[in-house]
Amino acid sequence: MIIARTIETLQEAKKTLQGSIGFVPTMGALHHGHLSLIRQAREENEYLIVSIFVNPTQFLEGEDLDAYPRKEEADRKICELAGVDILFMPTIDQMYEEDELCIGAPAIRGYVLEGEKRPGHFDGMLQVVMKLLNLSSATHAYFGKKDAQQLALITQMVKNYFMDVTIIPCEIVRDERGLALSSRNAYLNHEEKERALCLSRALKRATKMVMAGELHVEKIKQEMSAVLSEADRVEYIAIVNREFKALEKVEIGNTIILVAAWVGKPRLIDNLWI
Ligand code: PAF
Repeated sequence: MIIARTIETLQEAKKTLQGSIGFVPTMGALHHGHLSLIRQAREENEYLIVSIFVNPTQFLEGEDLDAYPRKEEADRKICELAGVDILFMPTIDQMYEEDELCIGAPAIRGYVLEGEKRPGHFDGMLQVVMKLLNLSSATHAYFGKKDAQQLALITQMVKNYFMDVTIIPCEIVRDERGLALSSRNAYLNHEEKERALCLSRALKRATKMVMAGELHVEKIKQEMSAVLSEADRVEYIAIVNREFKALEKVEIGNTIILVAAWVGKPRLIDNLWI
């Protein structure tokens, strides 16, 4: 495995690659969710590039940029064992200069839910993903459905800017009790981890209601809200179509149910595609 800490090293290492390039961008502190993306990308491509970069431009003032878990040594070993060809770990100076040209999130999809609660987050996320996709020359890039809105916006960016890469959505990975895996779960203590299960429980409750024929969004949200009372603060419960437009009735095959809630220190998100 080649470790590229500079853009020059990455470009040099890429010269030998001829064939499909799978790419998994990450912010490190790798867990089984990342590993499932990495494994899928490994299976489906001739070459595999993973990036680890805690991107400052997607963190808002007061968010956990400095505290974000960093586990470089463990991450390096995981990538090596998973058969990664190039691990790209740039510094901030390598990635950004002053007074950059920026791309912005779209006015509707980019400014609801996560976009509303974390204004500017998606601009920074799209900026770095654009850079990373260009730098990696990926033919296929892998993103988890857990960040559903992120996935939708990256797919739109690739379409709107005619970028030559296929975005592959990957299933959410959960622990044995249903908690969606996230690097930020590392902030949870034992008691908070128990309470954090209310996010996936609320989504399960919604599934049961839909399976029993209840399609009215307000009724489903009410029940979900009761299950989510174990969280310290619920930021949103949303039932939208795949365009992220609010629905009155669940449309089977075209609906995403999303929750965001604070439990202890971290703000957690989870969702379900129906
Ligand atoms: O999902 C993430 O970890 C980040 O938003 C990403 C896609 C690596 C961009 O920094």
